[in-house]
Parts: sequence; structure tokens; C-alpha cells
Amino acid sequence: MRIDIVTIFPEFFDVLDLSLLGKARQSGLIELGVHNLRDHTHDRHHSVDDTPYGGGAGMVMKPEPWGAALDAILGASPEAALTETPATVNASDDGPILIFPSPAGDQFTQAMARELSLERHLVFGCGRYEGIDQRVVDHYSQRGRVRLVSLGDYVLNGGEVAVMAMIEAIGRLIPGVVGNPESLVEESHEDGLLEYPSYTKPSSWRGLDVPPVLLSGNHGAISTWRHEQQIERTERVRPDLLLRTIQQPTT
Ligand code: ADE
Repeated sequence: MRIDIVTIFPEFFDVLDLSLLGKARQSGLIELGVHNLRDHTHDRHHSVDDTPYGGGAGMVMKPEPWGAALDAILGASPEAALTETPATVNASDDGPILIFPSPAGDQFTQAMARELSLERHLVFGCGRYEGIDQRVVDHYSQRGRVRLVSLGDYVLNGGEVAVMAMIEAIGRLIPGVVGNPESLVEESHEDGLLEYPSYTKPSSWRGLDVPPVLLSGNHGAISTWRHEQQIERTERVRPDLLLRTIQQPTT
């Protein structure tokens, strides 16, 4: 998968050199381009923002640097947006998806991460201040696939943290990125339930014992106990998830 990020804080993404995603980059499973929006300004101060039309607090990101930065990645014409990118298993052939993190976007979920992990090319545009001039979204929506995606119902200072979280959630679903694919199956949210609690040695620690069933060697009983724990935990912590699972049964 090819991932491009446009930001005014390119250093923010240095951490993508680390850990599993760093290894995935070294092995070529993920190809990353981080682009400084200010490289696409032409004034002395490299300014990327201006006051909002209609008044109001804060500053809005100007459309011109965004247009120049995104055209440099996507190509200047609509046709060129459908450029060839490295092949990925089951990858979509519909051209890149341009994603703007925004508290006004669709909620990012595990299902969305899975869907996006099948793409060949994702382009993230990190807004700051009071957001990006709406015409940037409108223009690129006429040329291809654009999504506004929210990390959750709270406001961050900019899109960078949201993009980091999305790239980690999406990247680890790309085949080969996580060493043992089985560890992806039994995770929270994969089956609409939260994960069961896990334990390791020693079997007793500070007066707290590992549930005996896990020491029994009875795989059927362990499996049943884990499922019960998932349901109990989900009911207690996130009853809304159970409701969703009942309303949209998996096929
Ligand atoms: N930018 C600011 N707040 C955000 C949020 N909650 N999700 C995604 N991007 C954001």
C-alpha cells in the first residue's frame, strides 16, 4: 500500500520508522511519503492560513497550497489521479482515496480500517486551525474519492494525531504486517465484541489468581469462558456495541 500524508508538521510522522509499521516500510509492504504543505506556498512567510470569510474566531487553511500539494501527489488532471501504485492483494482499482481527518466526518471504526486496508493508495490531508477551505474537499470530490473521517466525538488541535491512529489501525491489517495473523482475529471490535481478559505466568500474583479454567487444559471450556467474558465485558462497558451487533447481524 502507498500512503501519502500532507501536513505542516512532517516530523510528527517520524515515529512511523518504529515498530511493526517501520518494519513494514523496510520490507516494502507500506510505502510512505510525508509532504510539507509549506513547500507548496510562494510567499515569503510560507503562510498556509488566513482569516475566515464572514468573520469568526481562528484561521482557515488557504486552498492554494492544498491544491498544489495534492496535485503534486495525485497528478494535475482528473485522469492522472488514477496513476499506477504498487499492487496489494485485493486492492481497489478505483484510484486513491483522499482522507481528511475532521471531527465533522464519518466515525472511524475497525470495519472502516479493514475496508481501507484493501486500498492501494491512501492520501491523508492533515488540517489545522479552524479547518481547510471547503473548496478543497469540494474540488477533489469532483475528481475522485474523498472522505472526511473522525477519530471520535472530541476536538484535536489538528489532523496529525488522528492520521497516526488511522494509519496504525489500517497498516496492521495489511497482510504480512503483523507476524501472527491469528492475533488479529480475536481482538476487540473484530466480531463486534470487546476482547476477553488475558493472563500470563505466574498463575498467582499479589494474591490474585488466574481463573482456574485457563489452567484446565480443556479447550472447549476455555473457549466458552472467553466468549462469556467478551459478552459480560461488552454489556458492562459498551452496551451500544451489543445493540449494533443485534441490529446488523454478520452474514
Ligand atoms: N481533527 C480535529 N479533531 C478531530 C477528530 N476528532 N477526528 C479527526 N480529526 C480531527
